[in-house]
Amino acid sequence: MKNNVLTFKKAKETGKKISMLTAYDYSTAKLIDEAGVTAILVGDSLGNVMLGYENTIPVTMEDMIHHGAAVSRGAQNAMVVIDMPFMSYQVSVEKALINAGRLMKEGMADAVKLEGGSEVCPQIKAIVDAGIPVVAHLGLTPQAIHTLGGFRVQGKTPQVAQKLLEDAKAVEQAGAFAVTLECVPSKLASYITEQIKIPTIGIGAGNGCDGQVLVYQDMLGMFSDFTPKFVKRFASVGEVMKEAFSQYIAEVESGAFPSEEHGYQIDDDIIEKLY
Ligand code: KIV
Repeated sequence: MKNNVLTFKKAKETGKKISMLTAYDYSTAKLIDEAGVTAILVGDSLGNVMLGYENTIPVTMEDMIHHGAAVSRGAQNAMVVIDMPFMSYQVSVEKALINAGRLMKEGMADAVKLEGGSEVCPQIKAIVDAGIPVVAHLGLTPQAIHTLGGFRVQGKTPQVAQKLLEDAKAVEQAGAFAVTLECVPSKLASYITEQIKIPTIGIGAGNGCDGQVLVYQDMLGMFSDFTPKFVKRFASVGEVMKEAFSQYIAEVESGAFPSEEHGYQIDDDIIEKLY
């Protein structure tokens, strides 16, 4: 049975932590799924880590559908959440609904995620009313990078902390089944977690959240353009890959690869009869 909204609800009730990782392609999704993660996020962070953009603004619906469908094909048990990209839901409730529907039908999502608080509650309500589960996203919302003035911790002033709490309650009220808290001081994230009934999924929001999410390239040490303070490296896969690439290049250049075991045989008399 695939994880779903009830898995999240039960986790909040029992205190079992929710694990979430990003994925953007079939083979990685399969590995993450086999490891037993609760949910896979096809984040619009794919703009940074897969497509080489400076931020998530240029990511399109087509990008999310293309990568989302690949991930969905690799996820047997994990719930697949696909991000709604910049300008796919901000313009109107109608546009948000159409695009959330596309992520479900064409991207084969199990749920969608969108950024923002009270200002996007009409969109959250309409999408949920249409039968599509929604994860909200508060704190550092990368699509609003230009109004936030950069990638920085959110909620350090009384006003912003209060607004974050109110937004968390608002998205819960609008029907979101979980909320991501990104780059929020740990004590504030813990407080918000206690004040709402839906699970919080933290990224740079401390240990008091109901679950955690990380970008897989960050936690595997595969992406070095920018490493936020909250990232823990669980492996140095980037180094392993670079070593293997170097060895391949060396063996191709020396002629050591391919050896006989990697080739296909043919009877000598066939070669001899060629003219
Ligand atoms: O796009 C993404 O990967 C995200 C996570 C960082 C939460 O939204």
